[in-house]
Amino acid sequence: MSEKFYVTTPIYYVNDEPHIGHAYTTIAADVLARYHRLRGRDVFFLTGTDEHGIKIVKAAREKGTTPAELADSVVVRFKELWKLLNISNDDFIRTSQQRHEKRVQEIIRRLLQQDEIYRGKYEGWYDEGQEEFVTDFTAAQNNYKSAISGKPLVRYSEESWFFRLSKWINRLIEYIESHERFILPESRRNEILSKLRQGVGDLSISRQIAKLDGWGVPMPNDPEHSVYVWIDALSNYITALGIPEIGDEFDGKASQYWPADIHLIGKDILWFHAVYWPALLMALEMPLPETIFAHGWWTSEGKKMSKSLGNFISFDTIEQICTDYCPDAFRYFLLREVPFGADGDFSLNAFKMRYNNELANDIGNLLSRTVNMIGRYFDGKIPSPAQRELIGIEAEFLSEPLRKLQSQADDMITDCKFSDYITAVLDLTTATNRYIDKTEPFKLARQPDQQERIATILYTCAEMVRLALFYLTPFMPDKAAEGLAHLGISQDQVELTDEAVEFGQIRPGMGVSGPVSLFPRKI
Ligand code: MSP
Repeated sequence: MSEKFYVTTPIYYVNDEPHIGHAYTTIAADVLARYHRLRGRDVFFLTGTDEHGIKIVKAAREKGTTPAELADSVVVRFKELWKLLNISNDDFIRTSQQRHEKRVQEIIRRLLQQDEIYRGKYEGWYDEGQEEFVTDFTAAQNNYKSAISGKPLVRYSEESWFFRLSKWINRLIEYIESHERFILPESRRNEILSKLRQGVGDLSISRQIAKLDGWGVPMPNDPEHSVYVWIDALSNYITALGIPEIGDEFDGKASQYWPADIHLIGKDILWFHAVYWPALLMALEMPLPETIFAHGWWTSEGKKMSKSLGNFISFDTIEQICTDYCPDAFRYFLLREVPFGADGDFSLNAFKMRYNNELANDIGNLLSRTVNMIGRYFDGKIPSPAQRELIGIEAEFLSEPLRKLQSQADDMITDCKFSDYITAVLDLTTATNRYIDKTEPFKLARQPDQQERIATILYTCAEMVRLALFYLTPFMPDKAAEGLAHLGISQDQVELTDEAVEFGQIRPGMGVSGPVSLFPRKI
């Protein structure tokens, strides 16, 4: 049985259309999923939607519809966006699905049985946009407004069920301290630890369902209450696998994929994932996920994204960019522009620069030169090199960037260092372009006794383009396939196994086809 890899995105609220923030995490998860599949692993990639809670209920009221109808219409938009962006998720969970709801109730039942839940009264502040309880201290600090949206906090005072969160905090601190990779990046891990050390109270985990227009998962012991939306939402990572096991639905998935290898999320929702979620899992006596990675936030054209400023990168904006360029360029840019974990700015100017400099001038140009020369000098057939290894000038230019990719790609992917990974690929293509400039096969072509030399050079170039496109496949699946097709390689031949990324795999005699302009320059 091959090694498994389970990756998740947050499940997204359905109060409004998807935007760049949703696309970002989902593209990153897709890259991980595709990379591991190409490494031969058994991958499960989950995304979906978070459909309960006051935020959705209020949005539905404002739009004059019901939460269920609103959810149904927004889900269509998420699915459309994932199709446009070539997202290869294996499942799409909706928290309104029965498979999910009945398992959330089962989770609550188990917690009740273990005496992890008690009845009490919640009195305090609530951020309805974030669906988050806010301590009096933090509320006062932020002028009784949401730290995220700036909207006023709401005072809640109601009977509620509580999860004994405080009891798990010491164990959680120990766990985080002894598992370096549990929360990444490290700076975020430190933030969580210091906040945990200040002490954490129990967690209100239910809301009166009447206040939510009846929309939510009823508490199995008290149907007047629904399960707090974050408990409902976090559970998706296991309910989608059929955990808790009820009947024989989703047979085998639970034992096959849990614990998750990585939960990708944005920095604003780290507390829920790094504190509530592991505490719940501990209470359920279940293993914890390997890594929770919190990425940064995008601003747009230098400012916080907002609809009123007109700089909001909505679905429509993304669609326009995908039409003007291509979906793969958008995928590429998001993971290329800033280190995953840091905040970044999206600007159309920066987008065009990267597109022209890196995709068109470097990668695209290398492919086009290689295919053209093989067409011209070898009748479109990959020539036979003097040797199928890198020695002499070939080694001088290319061994190091190639070895770096071969030896570090896995680690860079494990650490979500997407931008570094792309840099490593570009180092290879840049070096190959330089190698062509230096060896000048187009000049050697005029000398009849240099046939074998040109054959070696062009074979080497074809191999380097092949390798670059293999490594780029998780990021730009369509464009890489299109480029490889010009080298006579079909999509099902692409893999990233140790053998496939060795130099010398491409077979002499295979037909190439050109001309090719993979990334036409934009003015
Ligand atoms: N429903 C919860 C998640 C539950 S997971 C068990 C939620 N949904 S959300 O739709 O509001 O946000 C989803 C993600 O989008 C978050 O990870 C958030 O960080 C991300 N982003 C929202 N705006 C963003 C940017 N401007 N930039 C990058 N990511 C941003 O939270």
